[in-house]
Amino acid sequence: MEFSIKAQSPEKVRTGCVVVGVAEGRRLSPSAKALDAAAGQHLSRLLKQGDLSAKLGQSLLLFGVPGVAAERVLLVSTGSEKKLNDREYRTLVRSVVQTLDGTGAKDALFCLTEISVADRDEEWNLEQLILTARESSYRITRVADKQDPACTLSQVAIPASEKIKPAALATLISRCQAIANGMALTRDLGNMPPNLCTPSYLAQSAKSLGKRWKLKVEVLEQAHMEKLGMGALLAVAAGSRQPPKLIVMHYAGAAKNQKPVVLVGKGITFDTGGISLKPAPEMDEMKFDMCGAASVFGTMRAVAEMKLPINLIAVIPTCENMPDGNATRPGDIVRSMSGQTIEILNTDAEGRLILCDALTYAEKFQPDTIIDVATLTGACVIALGHEAAGLFANDDKLCEKLKAAGDYTGDRAWPMPLWEEYQDGLKTNFADMANVAGRPGGSITAASFLARFTRKMRWAHLDIAGVAYKGGKDKGATGRPVKLFCRYLIQRSGQ
Ligand code: BES
Ligand code: MN
Ligand code: ZN
Repeated sequence: MEFSIKAQSPEKVRTGCVVVGVAEGRRLSPSAKALDAAAGQHLSRLLKQGDLSAKLGQSLLLFGVPGVAAERVLLVSTGSEKKLNDREYRTLVRSVVQTLDGTGAKDALFCLTEISVADRDEEWNLEQLILTARESSYRITRVADKQDPACTLSQVAIPASEKIKPAALATLISRCQAIANGMALTRDLGNMPPNLCTPSYLAQSAKSLGKRWKLKVEVLEQAHMEKLGMGALLAVAAGSRQPPKLIVMHYAGAAKNQKPVVLVGKGITFDTGGISLKPAPEMDEMKFDMCGAASVFGTMRAVAEMKLPINLIAVIPTCENMPDGNATRPGDIVRSMSGQTIEILNTDAEGRLILCDALTYAEKFQPDTIIDVATLTGACVIALGHEAAGLFANDDKLCEKLKAAGDYTGDRAWPMPLWEEYQDGLKTNFADMANVAGRPGGSITAASFLARFTRKMRWAHLDIAGVAYKGGKDKGATGRPVKLFCRYLIQRSGQ
């Protein structure tokens, strides 16, 4: 889906469809008024007949409106309030795209940045319009079957703005496209079947991403991990026939001496639980256990396409958690790269094991800030549901910035505590720590485990178990939290 800017007034634009908002009580938006005037009050007369429900997102598709150059006019209800809230605005855009998808309108003019959203400006409207439209037009790439037809709406024009200069508008559009492209990559990787999306496949994808976007890419093999003493990561990989990989991608957009942000993404390409085997129902969804890694891929791609003036490094530990004959047993003790020993009491708590070695490895990049992202715990889904990611940090300012980035984009994260008291649950008689505590506060004790490996760094952890993918009839990866990351990094870069 492409986006462009149109300076002409809406009635003059030759396009498949002009989309304008109408609020309850037949209150026409400025563009709707312009169409109505050109059409000799044709729209007002129609609306009086009551064919457009006032419910947000309901719409009326009209053909051959007199005085209007476009083939169609779509009147869409913006609801009863003077101003929409964030969620309502996104719903509005989504329903417009869904309504036009499958019609003959290949292109359209969306007069929707003029719709008022409480406490938001036109820039926000534009960003949300593009990102939401792109999200709605996404299709799962089928590997075994014929593809679903692509969204028929392929060209969206947006009216020129009085407040934002054309050049700034063009920059905004291409930036949003970059973010949307990143999200689509994240979703594509997440949606792939786990027999194809293996650690080796992710390593290959990193190399192609590197070629296309001029990133330096290194892939560390098992022998290298053994040399580095990554006993925790290797303990997870031990039960699988698939060799583990540690993928490192470097994006250099700023001077060499500027300390990088490091993103670490959990890349379990399938989580059976290992010897602590998971129950059968919904186990297929554990193909999404690499969505943290996928979101780091998507963010790297977006940042490279946006050419942000920052240094960004991706570190992706990836393997499969399988119950092979060589698999790690509950009770096994391993030494992590940090030197700390871990008694593995539950092989299903494998995310923290691969992440702890990746976090220790990342110390060598002397990050300004390090953020890990993982589908880490079912407990986080119980705590926050599917709305917000769990947000943990050892730095209050960093926590605040990430939360703000989530609020702005609608890709929300919610702060969770990391008090020392939670460390007690990880105590064991046999090693420096166990890899699990009891059931209470499971997402917090998992984060507390990671905190033991990041004491020397400014660090945050996002538990995306509840937000990275959807189950049920809408099953699929969501592309979260790419929007949050991009907003955070854009703000950081001062752009
Ligand atoms: N990948 C899972 C977490 C998960 C669960 C993500 C449900 C998405 C949906 C993780 O590896 C895991 O199995 N965690 C265990 C930890 C427990 C053994 C302490 C869990 O949450 O049950
Ligand atoms: Mn697990
Ligand atoms: Zn897992």
